Amino acid sequence: MELFKVYPLYNVTPVKAEGAYVWDKNNTKYLDLYGGHGVISIGHSHPKYVKAFTKQLNKIGFYSNSIQNPLQQKLAQKLGKLSDCENYKLFLCNSGAEANENALKLASFITGKSKIISFKNAFHGRTSAAVAVTDNATINAPINLQQKVTFLPLNTIELVINELDKNDVAAVIIEGIQGVGGLDEGTTEFFQQLQKVCNKKGVPLILDEIQSGYGRSGKFFAFQHHNIQPDIITIAKGMGNGFPIGGVLILDTYKAKFGMLGTTFGGNHLACVAAISVLDVVEKEDLINNVNSVYNYFLKEIKSVSKVKKVKGKGLMLGVEFDFEVAELRKKLIFEKHIFTGGSNNKKLLRILPPLNINKEQIAIFINALKELLDE
Ligand SMILES: Cc1ncc(COP(=O)(O)O)c(C=O)c1O
Repeated sequence: MELFKVYPLYNVTPVKAEGAYVWDKNNTKYLDLYGGHGVISIGHSHPKYVKAFTKQLNKIGFYSNSIQNPLQQKLAQKLGKLSDCENYKLFLCNSGAEANENALKLASFITGKSKIISFKNAFHGRTSAAVAVTDNATINAPINLQQKVTFLPLNTIELVINELDKNDVAAVIIEGIQGVGGLDEGTTEFFQQLQKVCNKKGVPLILDEIQSGYGRSGKFFAFQHHNIQPDIITIAKGMGNGFPIGGVLILDTYKAKFGMLGTTFGGNHLACVAAISVLDVVEKEDLINNVNSVYNYFLKEIKSVSKVKKVKGKGLMLGVEFDFEVAELRKKLIFEKHIFTGGSNNKKLLRILPPLNINKEQIAIFINALKELLDE
């Protein structure tokens, strides 16, 4: 059987990885500044992660959500403490799209309404409601277009108020920092107003922290730069450092009912152990501090690359913008300099999502490679 070809692939076959490096089948070593779409948080094959995971695999890997699994409570407690979100409850699932799907469904249960407000250039995943609130017509099939969604520009609160005043809105969903869209983000003033108008109307505010969460922005969650308290927060990507896991954090004021949400695989033993060991490493290795210190270094050093027009994003969720399209540059970075970077809807922007424990020397390798390739 052939694969159903939905991905344009680079001709690289990784077979081994460690920290911020990946090796292909020819033993070529690549610096990974992309972490497979921002998934690798504590570095590839972190020894503590591998050890905890292997130990669990030798005990029990999976059972469904019909039995007690104390690892889920352990994960919820650790996550609550480390993210300073102890006044939330946790629902576990398997991916980012699934986290958003459940968040939107929950908001619709709560409000009894069905229309969603989302934002221009948003990306929230590829399942039914998640893709409908994603601002990309080409990945929405007719079945997805049945959902009622209004896309508004970021940072225009009057338009949000107009929509909310129609009294048919189930939720507002927004990324902490837009990832796939190209690193745009709401201002602090906008986030604070958004929270206020949602509260006033009793409409849950969903913060999609799937890419921007887990310390990547320099705080545990990107919305924490704006001093707000969303009703619902969605997480995935860095949460499992490569093992599929997602989650929905739900403010304490919302009450659960049996059967309201559910999943077969979500919160299984292996997923929980992966997520617990990620949090252990983020805490013990002080990774959020590292994110901030490497970010400052990055901002300083990138100034020496004169062709860079702008740096967008925060922490280690960065977009380096040029005044030309970067597809060729990305290819040269991979095949000539052996550095992985990412692209986005903004074709002039390189997306940088390295492991949170990357160091300054590794960033310097990237800066020098850019200079050489751009002939500076
Ligand atoms: C902000 C955001 N939300 C949701 C998703 C979907 O996550 P997944 O691919 O795990 O379904 C992504 C994936 O890129 C994302 O960046």
